[in-house]
Parts: sequence; structure tokens; C-alpha cells
Amino acid sequence: MTADAMTPELLGFQLTHRAMRGDTRRLATLAAELTEGRQTADPARARTVSEYIRTLCAGIHHHHTMEDRVLWPVLERSAGAEVDLRDLSDDHSSLDPLLNEIDGQAAAFATTRDASALASSLTRLADLLDEHIEEEERLLFPVIAKYVSVADWKRVEDAVRKGTKPGVELPRIEQYARPEELARLRKLAGPMLTVLLAVFRGGHRRRQRQIFGPLAA
Ligand SMILES: [Fe+2]
Repeated sequence: MTADAMTPELLGFQLTHRAMRGDTRRLATLAAELTEGRQTADPARARTVSEYIRTLCAGIHHHHTMEDRVLWPVLERSAGAEVDLRDLSDDHSSLDPLLNEIDGQAAAFATTRDASALASSLTRLADLLDEHIEEEERLLFPVIAKYVSVADWKRVEDAVRKGTKPGVELPRIEQYARPEELARLRKLAGPMLTVLLAVFRGGHRRRQRQIFGPLAA
């Protein structure tokens, strides 16, 4: 919640969106570099990359499914005619087959170590997500802030959080948050966040270095 505790706090959603976009773009670049031979993947790296892409796709699918099932009804009830969700719903429908395709390509990559199909489909996904999320934040964030109650927003956030793996999600959020955002998040979430980040940070950084190279995270 914000300082006055009367309007929904959108920071968590914003950081989740930023992490989705950022990871998808970085993975698209990695897949292109693997395809062009500028980087190589031994079997262990290929498995970790494959798993990370599959987790990312599942996370994006879950996020959009919860928007469709939980956030959209809340918006329709709270804001009614103020918001038209048709274009955003259409985007969700067209993202789903692409996410499935990428999931299959990532599974194959673990054994073939050929990233050429992933290079083009991840770039397509990154472009679509950039467009979709910018539109979603531009259209919906002001409506949520104005019309949605703090209790309803908590329900939406809880539903979104439920299907995610904290060991993956929390350190990603930390990675993508700016220092002042992280400070705000720590204040909102309390000391448990600090404990969980300390537990998960090391594994996340090791995984990031294996996926993206020694300078990552
Ligand atoms: Fe969305």
C-alpha cells in the first residue's frame, strides 16, 4: 500500500512486468549469440538455459491468466465503462500459442543445443511483451489507482503470487528493482523479504552467471 494506505500499491506488478520484459529480451539476445557462434553452450549450460526459458514462459502465462481471471473481473466490477479490456485480452490470446511454441523449442534446445528457432521466437515475444505491457500499464494503472480497493488489489496480487516460485521470482524482482524501489519494497514487505532474499540470492546469481555469462547479476 502507498503511504496513505488508501490506494493500491502497483510497485510489485510494475517490477514483475519489468522482469518479464527484461529477461525475455536478454534471452532473445543470448539465443541470437548462440546461433551466430558468438557464445557456446555446453550440455549443463544448455539445460539451465532451457529450464529458465520454460520457467519464464510458465510465469508469463500464469501472470496473464490471473489478469484474465482475477484482475479483469475486479476492473469490470470497480471501473465498469471506464475501461475496455478487449485489446489486452486479444493480446493475451495471441501470446499463449507463442509461449507454447517457445516452451517446446526450449525443451528441444536442452538436447540439440541449436538456438536458432528460439532466437526468432524470443525476439517476437520480447517485442509483443514490450508493446502489450506498455499499453497495459498506460491504460490500467491509472484506473486501478482510482477505482480498485486495497482489499481487491491484495486479492489480485495474492492470486498472481500463488502460482510463482519464490526462489525464482523474489531474486529476479531484486535484480530488476532500482535501489529506491527496493527500499520501498522492503518497507512494505517487512523483514521476511530480507530473509528470503538472503536464502535465494546465491542460487539465483549462480544460475544467472551460468545462463548469461560471468558478469550477470
Ligand atoms: Fe497482460
